[in-house]
Amino acid sequence: MQFTVAIDGPAAAGKGTISRAVARDFGFAHLDTGLLYRAVGAKGGNPVTAAKGLTPDDLARDDLRSLEAGEAASQVAAIPEVRAALIAFQRDFARRDGGAVLDGRDIGTVICPLAEVKLFITASAETRARRRWLEAGDGAASFEDVLRQVRDRDARDMARADAPLCAASDAVILDTTEMSITQAVEAARTTIAARLGQPQG
Ligand code: CDP
Repeated sequence: MQFTVAIDGPAAAGKGTISRAVARDFGFAHLDTGLLYRAVGAKGGNPVTAAKGLTPDDLARDDLRSLEAGEAASQVAAIPEVRAALIAFQRDFARRDGGAVLDGRDIGTVICPLAEVKLFITASAETRARRRWLEAGDGAASFEDVLRQVRDRDARDMARADAPLCAASDAVILDTTEMSITQAVEAARTTIAARLGQPQG
């Protein structure tokens, strides 16, 4: 069975947690596509060469989740040749047998425009910055710095010419500003179950 769930949205909106939870619940494979851009940014050197030669070891680095790696990712992600080099891998993953969840910025718009389910997860910049700041732990950065970074990254991701961050016209929008993560996961699960024709509850 081929079944693709495309989950897009800005930084720290809850995409990662929701994607992992629904992938586990429905038995689908999960690809965090942000990790591909983070690995390209962290590798250094020519980003296009890095994207073309990405290896499993590059994706296993333990520093990819840092705020700096997120910043570097959003810079290399604006380069069209970097995005082009990563398309085939993502599309192959999406159509693998048994179902797949991909989360990122352009999954429902560019990578998998025919995905069976498209979710766009969002939340206010302040809420997202607070979540990221709490995740990063004490002393990593001030809340104001994290908020500035979230806003800069949103602006760069939305303004770029190639595959800008935006909701697909047929995406279900989930604003998690006032939701607990449990509620957000439940809302995503309900949408997917309905599309699969599974009874809910
Ligand atoms: O976890 P968080 O939402 O902060 O970031 P991420 O999903 O790991 O993505 C890091 C950066 O990679 C984003 O700010 C985007 O610039 C870029 N990205 C992208 O352009 N397209 C994707 N499909 C995924 C990430």
